[in-house]
Amino acid sequence: MMNKLAIWSACSLTFFLYTCKTDLKYNAFYPGQVWEDNNGVHINAHGGGMLLHKGIYYWYGEHKVATSIGNSAQVGVHVYSSSDLYNWIDEGIALNVIENDTLHDITKGCILERPKVIYNEKSKTFVMWFHLERKGTSYSSARSGVATSSSPLGPFTFVKSVRPNKEQWPINVLDIHKINKESEKNNHDFTGGSLPTHTDSINILGRDFKTGQMARDMTLFVDDDGKAYHIFASEENSTLHISELTDDYLDYTGKYMRVFIDRFMEAPAIFKQNGKYYFIGSGCTGWEPNAARSAVSESIWGPWVELGNPCTGPDSQFTFHSQSTYVLPAPGTKNGLIFMADRWQPNNPIDGTYIWLPITFDGEKPVIEWFDQWNMNYFNP
Ligand code: GAL
Repeated sequence: MMNKLAIWSACSLTFFLYTCKTDLKYNAFYPGQVWEDNNGVHINAHGGGMLLHKGIYYWYGEHKVATSIGNSAQVGVHVYSSSDLYNWIDEGIALNVIENDTLHDITKGCILERPKVIYNEKSKTFVMWFHLERKGTSYSSARSGVATSSSPLGPFTFVKSVRPNKEQWPINVLDIHKINKESEKNNHDFTGGSLPTHTDSINILGRDFKTGQMARDMTLFVDDDGKAYHIFASEENSTLHISELTDDYLDYTGKYMRVFIDRFMEAPAIFKQNGKYYFIGSGCTGWEPNAARSAVSESIWGPWVELGNPCTGPDSQFTFHSQSTYVLPAPGTKNGLIFMADRWQPNNPIDGTYIWLPITFDGEKPVIEWFDQWNMNYFNP
């Protein structure tokens, strides 16, 4: 009894001290508006992802700066913390770019996008993955970066960058991918320009077999059994790959699947609801918004069935002028889900705002409607 009381008191004290740190300015979300942190500064965590650890939410995202240079990594990955998702404390830079080594993978000026952090129970390590383009390569490196930390707030230490699944074929590889380059007509040397509707005709998967597959827009998903997956736009953005991670979350097991083949999907977000796997993503139009896509599957490996644009109402064909980045189960609700997206400002990226909206379901189809303002009571009327 004493023990329980002591634990309860300690927890209440931690929560009390935590909430004292924030000034609890907000009690609702205001999609697309300036969103101030505890210092009154607009939150700077774009292409972000969430981690819930010991009752606290951590928001990791790209720290952008002013002018179009701000789309390259001048600072690193910013982290904020919150106990209620409305009010965020600036916890500083979780992963810093490297200033004094121009050849480093994450040297200042590289492109470091869509960072996501997951916690590995076995190694007690926070593992960050992100899309990396080495400095000066525009978007041709198409690599995945990995960094780790013993604290959710960092500092994260860069571990490596990789091209995924080098010399591994996906579960659903076709014979045409394996054709020997010398003896067939496919153009394995595709280096850009417009792609055919059916990209297997130029066998990008086969082209990248030896070097590892391309990986651009990405997310991480941890299933109920603790297995983690890296989901990324591959094959010149034509096709997504879902790739299983090793038990320590630091590498690929080599098991992966090509999904949404030739659908040119970006900005992937994956979540689970009532035992089913859901996907929300975008089409491929750079910083310009397009209509979101959604899909459902009984298994992470598919088959994924597309369900169309989840957004409804005015501007739904442009995802309310935003692009998906994450879907989070809403705290204190049974099935509430929050859709998180970025309203990019490519000419002054630091001004980019955040579009967070509730997800409801029409049968098994996710539905996202615009609200100027809403809060968690939406899920518990
Ligand atoms: C978007 C992508 C962003 C960024 C941008 C660059 O489609 O989702 O993360 O890579 O293209 O043009």
